[in-house]
Amino acid sequence: MVAPDWQTFAANTTVHGLRYVFESPSRFRRVIWLLLLLGAMAIYVFLVAQSVAKYYSNPVNTEFKEIVPEKGELTFPAVTICNLNRFVKTKINMFENDDNFYKMSLNLSACEAIKMANIHLSCGQGLLCAFERFGSAVAENCNETTRQQIISVLNSTKKPIFNPEEFLSTYGHDFEDMFLYYCRFAAIENCTSADFQPSLTQNGLCFTFNSGENATTVRGTRRAGTSGGLSVILDVQANENTISEFSRGLRVVVHDQGTFINLEKGFNVFPGSHTLARVTTTKRERLQYPYHSNCTQRLIPGMPRYSRDGCFLQCEANTTLAMCGCRIMGIPVPSNSSVCTFQHQFCEERCAESHNPSKCSCGIPCEEIEYTSQVSYSQFPDVGAAKILKHLKAYNKSMEYQRANLVFLQVGFQHHGYTLVTETPSYRLGSLLGDIGGNMGLFLGCSLLTLFEFVDLLWSVLESRADRSKSISSQEQNDPV
Ligand SMILES: *[C@@H]1O[C@H](CO)[C@@H](O)[C@H](O)[C@H]1NC(C)=O
Ligand SMILES: *[C@@H]1O[C@H](CO)[C@@H](O)[C@H](O)[C@H]1NC(C)=O
Ligand SMILES: *[C@@H]1O[C@H](CO)[C@@H](O)[C@H](O)[C@H]1NC(C)=O
Ligand SMILES: *[C@@H]1O[C@H](CO)[C@@H](O)[C@H](O)[C@H]1NC(C)=O
Ligand SMILES: *[C@@H]1O[C@H](CO)[C@@H](O)[C@H](O)[C@H]1NC(C)=O
Ligand SMILES: *[C@@H]1O[C@H](CO)[C@@H](O)[C@H](O)[C@H]1NC(C)=O
Ligand SMILES: *[C@@H]1O[C@H](CO)[C@@H](O)[C@H](O)[C@H]1NC(C)=O
Ligand SMILES: *[C@@H]1O[C@H](CO)[C@@H](O)[C@H](O)[C@H]1NC(C)=O
Ligand SMILES: *[C@@H]1O[C@H](CO)[C@@H](O)[C@H](O)[C@H]1NC(C)=O
Repeated sequence: MVAPDWQTFAANTTVHGLRYVFESPSRFRRVIWLLLLLGAMAIYVFLVAQSVAKYYSNPVNTEFKEIVPEKGELTFPAVTICNLNRFVKTKINMFENDDNFYKMSLNLSACEAIKMANIHLSCGQGLLCAFERFGSAVAENCNETTRQQIISVLNSTKKPIFNPEEFLSTYGHDFEDMFLYYCRFAAIENCTSADFQPSLTQNGLCFTFNSGENATTVRGTRRAGTSGGLSVILDVQANENTISEFSRGLRVVVHDQGTFINLEKGFNVFPGSHTLARVTTTKRERLQYPYHSNCTQRLIPGMPRYSRDGCFLQCEANTTLAMCGCRIMGIPVPSNSSVCTFQHQFCEERCAESHNPSKCSCGIPCEEIEYTSQVSYSQFPDVGAAKILKHLKAYNKSMEYQRANLVFLQVGFQHHGYTLVTETPSYRLGSLLGDIGGNMGLFLGCSLLTLFEFVDLLWSVLESRADRSKSISSQEQNDPV
């Protein structure tokens, strides 16, 4: 009964070739057909295995799109401006008997310690001498002996009395003094010094325009070009220089609101320059695990928006906090313990050596906005600008002073739009099934329904077996033994 079933099946099945394997009159041709059929099957299995492997590797496509914002308004980035000089000379050299000393709230708690050291230095001089590595060279009336003396006094208490953050923010530049009459946003809106929020970074006090902090609205602009963004004239107060990163001028960082201010990503501006920063925006959207980017939607305490460099720095600060019990200056950590200072110096160094960034699990963010600045400079002011300043603003400083101090900074978008870079899965279940089906058709000439032909065959085989065993057992019953 089985043999005829199989013959009919082979003759009628939609698997091409199977028929010839059984029906060809010559044995030679039957063998050839069998080999062809087996070959096609092998290739098919190989290709299906490849497709499945590709599906499980979760490949992605990266698409680049140029977007022009619908309402015509582009969100303007935050612009952080820092004076490279960290401490104002006038403040540093101000003695306690000066009227302004208390007015400028220069009386820090550590000032008592300087007095205790019994040396004739102002509070600022003493702290600068102790705080900076080359303090004895930089601060007046200070030599290495005095430096060690001050450090030992500041280090003598169990609880630190010296707070570097406080020192940097009170003895640093005031924005009011750097701000000079002129500030425009998008060519029409007047901005004031109050629009620049102070923020403490690792290198000292900086000021952020359009920070979006404290629920202030984030500005947007409808105009491309440097005049469509922020234009501001600043005075770097070069004659107030004490110590900086070996040069005078400003550091400017263009960044996304709420992300950690990474000064490494900024550019320097020299005094006496008209600085144009043309910003291009790239917005990136990535896919989470299991896709290759494995991006993270993590939130980090103290930073409204995740950024990878902020995460790494906080991770290191966390390690220091755990090992030494103090915060690294300028890095937000969820703790109100005091800032690291002389008491923690050696612990801090040991910690920095032993810190292992690969343990931080700081992945790349799923959404990220990158601002890339193209910066160009020319000399500022020219004769015309100097005359305008004098005429309109009654600014009477000499040309020499202006060339040594003023910066005209303009930050604006290069294009009216941004580049959106998105990742999309490139090989989904549909594509996998398509490949499996397509190859099935190409190599075996059959489709999904052919599988049911085999099921059907199996069914009829089982059925006929059952029939036969029934008839055999009924025969046995009929046979008298
Ligand atoms: C200055 O600060 C010290 C320590 O905080 C304090 O004892 C002292 O009274 C302050 N001086 C004035 C005049 O406020
Ligand atoms: C350092 O300065 C103090 C006072 O300003 C002075 O007494 C001392 O001799 C100086 N030490 C050195 C090594 O110059
Ligand atoms: C901005 O300030 C200038 C004078 O400094 C004034 O003439 C102008 O009207 C102000 N613009 C706005 C929009 O307030
Ligand atoms: C936000 O506002 C509070 C209270 O007005 C103030 O203490 C804080 O410094 C502000 N933060 C910034 C970044 O300006
Ligand atoms: C730092 O520690 C805090 C609290 O322990 C934690 O919430 C935060 O995620 C840590 N930051 C990093 C970057 O590991
Ligand atoms: C942090 O501040 C809170 C409340 O202000 C206080 O209860 C806690 O003891 C402080 N922690 C440290 C380590 O100072
Ligand atoms: C501060 O004092 C501690 C001990 O109290 C000591 O280990 C550390 O070396 C001192 N730091 C400096 C800079 O002298
Ligand atoms: C994905 O990233 C997280 C950290 O964001 C990490 O812990 C995890 O091991 C990564 N997974 C893979 C498969 O790389
Ligand atoms: C500049 O103007 C200020 C007042 O605005 C005045 O006190 C000062 O004498 C002037 N300087 C010169 C060089 O004219």
